[in-house]
Amino acid sequence: MSSPTPFPILIPRASVHARIGELARALASEYAKDPPCVIAVLEGARTFAEHLTKLLPGRPDYHAVRASSYGDGMVSSGRVAIASGVPPVQDRRVLLLEDIVDTGRTIDKLRTWLLTHGAKDVKVAALLSKPSRRVVDVELDWVGFEIPDEFVIGFGMDAAGKYRELPDVAIYKEQAQASS
Ligand code: IMP
Repeated sequence: MSSPTPFPILIPRASVHARIGELARALASEYAKDPPCVIAVLEGARTFAEHLTKLLPGRPDYHAVRASSYGDGMVSSGRVAIASGVPPVQDRRVLLLEDIVDTGRTIDKLRTWLLTHGAKDVKVAALLSKPSRRVVDVELDWVGFEIPDEFVIGFGMDAAGKYRELPDVAIYKEQAQASS
């Protein structure tokens, strides 16, 4: 089937869905005895969180936290602000869901914040990781796909607020946008 977008597809939707199924099985096993407080980093991780939590035992709700280092641009500002939405985590295990880990600053900041607010344990499941871009050495417990240093869109991820709704993970190219 042809792509509905002018952007080159990096990971087709079928592969994304299959990998989320694998991640869900690993998470179900990890948290069988002590279900975690699930926190998704908005806006980008919403689609990942929706798909993943549906596959977890008991279909848990997730809390949505806003943290931003990108704003409307595509270059990390280097500062991460936790804007809103962090639930009480005292003595809870926490599962952080992230769409993509780039410099690692967002996850590092959130993990530190949660641990200082009493979380028993904080683990991270990221749909995508760009290891070559890392600035902070963060430990990721589950990664869907490691990708090269490309700016990606789709499956919840945006370029300045656009293209989140694309069903595949695609590489953002300004030229493709201009000719679309
Ligand atoms: P980090 O703090 O540098 O790891 O950035 C993580 C956040 O940056 C993610 O939650 C995304 O919102 C955003 N981000 C990083 N790389 C991309 C990308 O390629 N496409 C879309 N968003 C990205």
